[in-house]
Amino acid sequence: MLRPLLSLPSTKLLPAQRAGVSLIRRQFTVLAVESSADDTCAAVVRSDGQILSNVVIKQFDLHERYGGIHPVAAIEGHQRNMPLAVQRAIREAQVDIVKDISGIAFTRGPGIGGCLSVGSNAAKTLAAALNKPLVGVHHMQAHALTPLLTTLNSPDTPKFPFLTLLVSGGHTLLLLAASHKDFRILATTVDESIGRSFDKVSRMLQLPWSKFGPGAALEDFCAQNGSGSGPNEDVAHIPAAPTPMRKKLSFSYAALHSFVERYIHSQGGIDNLSIPQRRALGRSFQTGAAAQLEEKLLLALEWCEKKNIVVEHVVMSGGVASNQFIRRTLQAALAIYGGENGHTINLIYPPPSLCTDNAVMIAWASMTRFLELTQ
Ligand code: KG4
Ligand code: ZN
Repeated sequence: MLRPLLSLPSTKLLPAQRAGVSLIRRQFTVLAVESSADDTCAAVVRSDGQILSNVVIKQFDLHERYGGIHPVAAIEGHQRNMPLAVQRAIREAQVDIVKDISGIAFTRGPGIGGCLSVGSNAAKTLAAALNKPLVGVHHMQAHALTPLLTTLNSPDTPKFPFLTLLVSGGHTLLLLAASHKDFRILATTVDESIGRSFDKVSRMLQLPWSKFGPGAALEDFCAQNGSGSGPNEDVAHIPAAPTPMRKKLSFSYAALHSFVERYIHSQGGIDNLSIPQRRALGRSFQTGAAAQLEEKLLLALEWCEKKNIVVEHVVMSGGVASNQFIRRTLQAALAIYGGENGHTINLIYPPPSLCTDNAVMIAWASMTRFLELTQ
């Protein structure tokens, strides 16, 4: 069933700072911070789309031992790293924080409360001390608008209305984007997000997170060829992942991680699986995860056709959007769909560094709000 139109009041200008907006009628430069989960981020971005700096301080080393984001460790990490991130963002952008920064932006949610407050306190303090306007940005809206920045002034720039797949640790959303602010939710997950299921499977397969994090570690493991011990025949009996919620505009990723869990259990534990078997199991999961995105995307396109909504672009964003296997799967599906329906549908996605959490997307999402207010 379709959810009602969701109008995100995604960015808010605090009344006390409204007066400052008139100072930025021409080009303006935003310093943004983001700390909704486990990355401490700061960036300086100009309204012409120039990214002057993009600092991301990862916390993988803090959380690997807990097997997931530990909120207290994350808050402490942000508190330690935020001043450093802001300092580096300003230095790398080669700007003067007093003279060159026109406004400050921060993530106002959704995210882990204590983590969000580190970023919002930093932003509010900077805005107050420097007398700059301040904008709070919705995290998922920022992910959704990132492809507009990365394709700025190029023929690939997606035209409204377009479909958006937001695939991250917090969300699995398929949206119809009607404008910068209006998103209709076509599908969401009935249980956990695709990113969390990647994280859980990565952990069950005992993959080291390295510096990339659990989801990227799983993608990398699946992409490796034939290394490790055990003959390839070992993998012949690894089952295919299930396809839950078939023909429904809903996702279920808990079903996929449970499939992996059950298989490992049926074999008497992970220690009884050879490396090729683990890889085959990981690939089975990843193939199922991509297939589910593909099925819902095609259902959504059919829904748009029936409503005479012409969609030429699908944009994908959020941490999982950096997965190359998923990109290739969706690209191939859209090529077939476009061929059958006589029109091209382009898949647009940001570079991996702008798919995972970053403050550039927060700065960019705040620009539209600043622009609206200065028109
Ligand atoms: O957007 P993001 O950085 O933070 C949230 O807003 O959640 O997404 C993080 C999620 C994590 O679950 C992470 O494991 C997953 O995205 N992820 C990936 C890949 N890179 C990050 N999942 C699959 N393949 C990847 N390459
Ligand atoms: Zn995110």
